[in-house]
Amino acid sequence: MSYTFIKHANELLTVKGHSETPAVKEQMNNLHIIEDGAVLIEDDTIIDVGTTDKLKRKYADILDDAIVVDASNKVVAPGLVDPHTHLVFAGSRENEYNMRLQGAKYMDIMAKGGGIHATTRATRQASAEQLYTESFPRLDSFLKHGVTTVEAKSGYGMDWEVERRQMEVAHQLNRDHVVDIVSTFMGAHVIPEEYKDKPDQFVDEVVNEMIPATAELGLAEFNDVFCERGVYTPAQSLRILEAGKKHGLIPKIHADEIEPYGGAEIAAEVEAVSADHLLKVSDRGLSMMAHKGVVAVLLPGTAFFLMTEAANGRKAIDSGVPVALSTDRNPGSSPSTSMPFMINLASLTMGMTPAEAIVAATINAAHAIKRADRIGSIEAGKKADLVIWDIPNHMQFTYLYGVNHTETVIKNGRKVVD
Ligand code: NIG
Ligand code: FE
Repeated sequence: MSYTFIKHANELLTVKGHSETPAVKEQMNNLHIIEDGAVLIEDDTIIDVGTTDKLKRKYADILDDAIVVDASNKVVAPGLVDPHTHLVFAGSRENEYNMRLQGAKYMDIMAKGGGIHATTRATRQASAEQLYTESFPRLDSFLKHGVTTVEAKSGYGMDWEVERRQMEVAHQLNRDHVVDIVSTFMGAHVIPEEYKDKPDQFVDEVVNEMIPATAELGLAEFNDVFCERGVYTPAQSLRILEAGKKHGLIPKIHADEIEPYGGAEIAAEVEAVSADHLLKVSDRGLSMMAHKGVVAVLLPGTAFFLMTEAANGRKAIDSGVPVALSTDRNPGSSPSTSMPFMINLASLTMGMTPAEAIVAATINAAHAIKRADRIGSIEAGKKADLVIWDIPNHMQFTYLYGVNHTETVIKNGRKVVD
């Protein structure tokens, strides 16, 4: 048995009390801070949390042998959780970025065969080894930014063998890299070019072949679709998500990103775990999501990078929707691995307080990938995934913006970044 004792945190952000249902409304503004806080870790599990004084007295016998980490003048927080990434792909698209900076539009580039299609061509040509080698450093970068768990979607194959390869690589990365990866099937990312004139035939393939095979091989827990004009219609999206559900895959949806299109409403109807993007969500969609407890995964980096107005995080929270944050790490609309920057943007472009943004990037993000029983807060019994930020209080996290404040990352009870 090995013990680690983190002591004297100026602020220990426990984010406690929301392991069963996500934090909503004013709950999102409460980090449940312990001043001069301490955490006792046994192997890879948190066993107690309290003031330094209290834990020192309670565990005097154990602490002699513990590894001690002094967090004086620092903030201790749960490891960040990124619930929406397109982690495994080949190549990059700075050429399109350059075109967009000169006025080209994201959806127009895609309609002309670039965008997701360009990454699909590169990914189809890549071997599993190449996909692994290109994706591994992305995980290193996540970790340096204090992210200890990420979700990873397929969707740059849209051909069964390649979709499968992407998901298998995600599983291999999960085994080899210290960052935990949760896998999502997203065969319905766009309509592949070869099905341009027969989209429903591709939907049939996703529904009748890819979803059952994904489930049978245990390659993913979640099933996602890009519901947007020119991509998948609400009816096709519903069909795909219902089919996944029948095979035990939990629905997620890329919803209402470019225009209001009924995606949030579908998320509520199929009881999706999350609806993501939501820049143009309708009021009805928001209230249906609040009613069903669907997590809104907001991606402020995508709006920033596409130079559009961000989702209205303030309104989503005030409507009673549980809000989470993510990078959307992908080569086209958001090539960033910085959850700290997303937390900055949530404050500065979506009207969220630093506390709300941190709750959104920890416990609510864990809910968006059904992991809130294990991660997302600092509570006895949870996995010891923690970060130490080199700032004296959590408000400085977004006040001193554009900086990665992550100093130490403790993953499964061990220091992995220091
Ligand atoms: O979440 N919106 C659809 N999919 C990704 C973009 C993927 C890409 O451009 O390669 C997203 O923004
Ligand atoms: Fe995405």
